[in-house]
Amino acid sequence: MKVLGFAGSLREASYNRALLRAAKELAPAGMEIEIFDIGGIPLYNEDVERAGVPAAVEEFRAAIRSADAILVAVPEYNHGVPGVLKNAIDWASRPPGQSALNGKPAALFGASPGQTGTARAQTQLRGSFVFTNTPALPQPEVLVFRAHEKFDAEGRLTDEATRVWVGKLLEALQDWATRLAR
Ligand code: FNR
Repeated sequence: MKVLGFAGSLREASYNRALLRAAKELAPAGMEIEIFDIGGIPLYNEDVERAGVPAAVEEFRAAIRSADAILVAVPEYNHGVPGVLKNAIDWASRPPGQSALNGKPAALFGASPGQTGTARAQTQLRGSFVFTNTPALPQPEVLVFRAHEKFDAEGRLTDEATRVWVGKLLEALQDWATRLAR
C-alpha cells in the first residue's frame, strides 16, 4: 500500500514534518510512505488555474491520485488549519468532478507545543474533508501535545507512547484503506 504523507508546515524544524518522518519509520509491513513537500504550491487563484495549472500543483494532484491513501500532519494556527495546508487541499480538490481527494482514504495526526495537540485544526480539516468526500479515519486520534518534550534536537520522535500511537494510527489506516478499496 502506497501512502502519500504531507505536512502543513514549511519550516525546517517543524514538529509535524518530524512526525511524518517518524511515521515513515513506523509504517507497518506492506505500507510505504512517501513524503510530499507542499512548499512549492502557489496561492490558489482561479485565474491562474484557468491559464494553466502550476507544475507543483499537477505534481501534488498526481501524487495523491497514485497513492492508496493520504496521511496529513496537521499543525494548528489560531485554532485552525494553517493557510499553506488549506491552500494545498483547495488546489487538490479542483476541478470539480475531478478532485484527487474524492474518495481518497485519509488519516490525520498533528503536533503542537500546546496542550491540545492540534485537536481543533484536525477537527476543522475533517470538516473540509466532508466537502471533498475524503473519508478520514475516525480513530485513533493522534494529538501530540507538548511536542517540544517528545522530539529530540534532531527532530526524532523519542516519546515511546507517541511512537506506539503513530504505529496504531498507521495500522488502522492500512485496514481503513483496504476496506474502502473493496
Ligand atoms: C501557533 N501555534 C499554535 N499552537 C496551538 O496549539 N494552537 C494554536 O492555535 C496555535 N496558533 C498559532 C498561530 C501561529 C500564527 C503560529 C505561527 C503558531 C504554535 C504552533 O503549534 C507551533 O508554532 C508549532 O511548532 C507549529 O507546527 P510545526 O511548524 O512545528 O510543525
